[in-house]
Amino acid sequence: MPALACPRSEAPLNKQADGRLVSAEAQISFPSLEGIPFLWPEPGAALLDWRNRYNAALADIEQQLAATATPAADLPDLSRRRLQDLNAAYTRYYEEIDALLAPLRVGDALATETHLALKTRLPAHHGVLSYAQNIHRDWCWGDEENRQVCAHLISALSEATTSPFDDKEILLLGCGAGRLAYDLHTGLQPQQTWALDSNPLLCLIGHRVSRGEALTLTEFPLAPLDHDQVAIERTLCAPSPSNENLKFVCADALSPPFAAGTFDVVVTPWLLDVIDASVSSCLQILHRLLKPGGIWLQHGSVAFDGARPENRLTATELAALSDRQGFQVVDQRNIQLPYLQSPASRQHRLELTYTQVAVRDDAPAQGTRTLPQRLPDWIIDVKQPVPLSQAFQTQITTVRVHAFIMSLIDGKRSVKEMAKILEEQRLMPAQQAEQAIRGFLTTMYEEATHKDGLANAR
Ligand SMILES: C[S@@+](CC[C@H](N)C(=O)[O-])C[C@H]1O[C@@H](n2cnc3c(N)ncnc32)[C@H](O)[C@@H]1O
Repeated sequence: MPALACPRSEAPLNKQADGRLVSAEAQISFPSLEGIPFLWPEPGAALLDWRNRYNAALADIEQQLAATATPAADLPDLSRRRLQDLNAAYTRYYEEIDALLAPLRVGDALATETHLALKTRLPAHHGVLSYAQNIHRDWCWGDEENRQVCAHLISALSEATTSPFDDKEILLLGCGAGRLAYDLHTGLQPQQTWALDSNPLLCLIGHRVSRGEALTLTEFPLAPLDHDQVAIERTLCAPSPSNENLKFVCADALSPPFAAGTFDVVVTPWLLDVIDASVSSCLQILHRLLKPGGIWLQHGSVAFDGARPENRLTATELAALSDRQGFQVVDQRNIQLPYLQSPASRQHRLELTYTQVAVRDDAPAQGTRTLPQRLPDWIIDVKQPVPLSQAFQTQITTVRVHAFIMSLIDGKRSVKEMAKILEEQRLMPAQQAEQAIRGFLTTMYEEATHKDGLANAR
């Protein structure tokens, strides 16, 4: 059975009586969230980070509660009723999320910011409620969408191997709420399946539901069919309990808590397109995790919303890069599949997915384990000078002008009067200032009135 390893050093872990895993080599101990190992290179800081995101999610729900609390008297009856129902649903949702994430509150008082924490910190846009739709798709919208994906992936896998899986070790990176891990585990019956995700809410739900628990979680469809579907009390449950060899782990796919050469199959379902790392560094990690001859199964979109153009690979580029980094691509498929089709929503997605099956070569694992560096050294080391780059210089000027404009807002001045002051201060001609002030105030107004705190990230 593949043992979990220290995410910093790959050293073996020992289990303590209280359930914590300890890496003697790195002198570090890792908490467990209701039996799910929380294996981050800097676990204290990661736990604190996720707690902050948990509190931010509750604050977002509180905003929705406030926005629906007192419907205006002149609203039509139907709209008033909808807001009242929404308010009741948000009250319930708050309690559901608070209870589900309660395990994040237990445990030690953890380290605040350390330089390592800054290095390993997740991008700000990964909230606990990102991918909330995936939870309902996985465990309550019916089996069809999940069945199609699983059948497609099992068929693709058969291009690389026809031998039984009963002695195989499988890993899913970015498993979400866990349904694909559950379905592959049930369908292939491997020795063991590890389902890894960075998001504790998704891990906690996947862990509990796949073991046979029924949980309730309110769904807020993106485009509700009608009044009754604006907020729906849903029950999350698995078709039947999985065996105990399906295991969840909360960790960073960029510092996976496994030793080199552990897995026969690694699946990356809808991960490469959202993970904040270059595909090349992901390939290095995948190569390291797999045994020689092991299979990497890539599924989903190739490039979705990556900020850096060089990382938005086409399918052909991904296949060529895989070849260069120690894989032989044995199958490529483009197939249209349903994606996040809530029965209560008018919005139904169909995705032309790209599936690639690649076999790892026999070469030794590439490179050494390094921690993902998500921020520059001068933020990590507080003694280093902060570089005055061209981009910072432009931002400094913009921020100064914006701060000055904000200081002119006193509830009395008009845009025209503010523009005149900017001209008097020789910051810009009045005509230009009017346009600049309007543009800036429009952004400020929109940010203040269209906060999409509960929106699904994708
Ligand atoms: C688009 S969702 C796909 C979820 C699931 N595989 C599915 O198909 O429904 C991407 C998933 O990757 C996870 N993820 C993103 N970056 C990660 C990282 N660095 N380590 C682990 N998981 C990550 C997210 O939390 C999310 O669950």
